Amino acid sequence: MSGVFEKFGRDLLFALDPETAHGISIAALKSGVPLLCPPGKASHRLRTRVAGIDFPNPLGMAAGYDKNAEAPDGLLRLGFGFAEVGTVTPLPQPGNPRPRIFRLPRDGAVINRLGFNNEGHEKAFARLSRGRRRGVIGVNIGANKDSADRVADYELGVRRFAGVASYLTVNISSPNTPGLRNLQGREMLAELLSRVMAARDASSKVPVFLKIAPDLEEAELDDIAAELLDKSVDGLIVSNTTIGRPAIHDDPGAVESGGLSGCPLFGRSTAMLAKMRRRVGSDMPVVGVGGVNSAETALEKIRAGADLVQLYTGLIYAGPSLPGRIVGGMDRFAASEGLKNVREIRDSRLAHWADQPI
Ligand SMILES: Cc1cc2nc3c(=O)[nH]c(=O)nc-3n(C[C@H](O)[C@H](O)[C@H](O)COP(=O)(O)O)c2cc1C
Repeated sequence: MSGVFEKFGRDLLFALDPETAHGISIAALKSGVPLLCPPGKASHRLRTRVAGIDFPNPLGMAAGYDKNAEAPDGLLRLGFGFAEVGTVTPLPQPGNPRPRIFRLPRDGAVINRLGFNNEGHEKAFARLSRGRRRGVIGVNIGANKDSADRVADYELGVRRFAGVASYLTVNISSPNTPGLRNLQGREMLAELLSRVMAARDASSKVPVFLKIAPDLEEAELDDIAAELLDKSVDGLIVSNTTIGRPAIHDDPGAVESGGLSGCPLFGRSTAMLAKMRRRVGSDMPVVGVGGVNSAETALEKIRAGADLVQLYTGLIYAGPSLPGRIVGGMDRFAASEGLKNVREIRDSRLAHWADQPI
């Protein structure tokens, strides 16, 4: 799709309320309509092996866009190296009342309080079991709002999706399910991770990642890192949306409650990523997410310690050509600097980011 058409498409979608626009974009991806010229051939420089998985490039679609696993193949066709579907909960649930997504265009940001609206495990599982999987697809699992035993919901998620996912993400960082983030506290986290890893070991070897919030104190980061290492969790995703409101314009949506994503989240989530990289050492896979909207911001995540990068809000503002443009830009950078792989880019700005106050 040329730039003019892409801008026209974006203007049309922005005339609609965010959830209608989202539904149309999912339908377009599902239909297989070519949304743009196919992305260029995967570059050998960007191919990367993380947690035992081969990724054609390190840029992924973050969780929350394709909550019900309707269009992962369409996302991969846009040029993403991997797609994370979900969050899925055992039972279907409607989420919070609408409106619950708010655009903040002057900030390139979004506030959402969806509350894990999704069709439940069975529907997502049925879709993912159909046909042969052709790319890297992660499944992000969560707990039902009314669940009596939330940890059991994660165990169910592991058992249900272990056979159809390239990796699983244990999401305990959504700000929109009351009490969910308490699972990040040391005692509850220890129990959650023990039970989740036991469920995983009983069913398969699928890698398990933990996704955390950006609203944590240094001492909490210490605890989380210690538990990740103690329980041999396979990787970490930093971060989910923030309940903070770092420097945003005074738009009508800015007063809404919920999690903030996009450009204003970049600094905080990148600092958190670097702090966690320092704590978990250089071997644990870490995924950087929050405010990525260009090759430069994607590269900065990697330089701050990420092995892989994800985005969501950037796609809302920049349109479907964004993944291809980011991957192309990263590859040109690596070529011009004589860097042979993602690992050679990593960690060069760790100190800068890890020493930022949070
Ligand atoms: C509308 C919306 C829904 C989201 N839903 C989920 C979700 O279900 N599960 C999850 O782990 N993260 C969810 N996220 C968080 C994103 O995956 C990502 O961590 C966050 O938005 C920061 O990245 P970004 O700045 O590139 O958007 C959601 C984000 C948005 C904007």
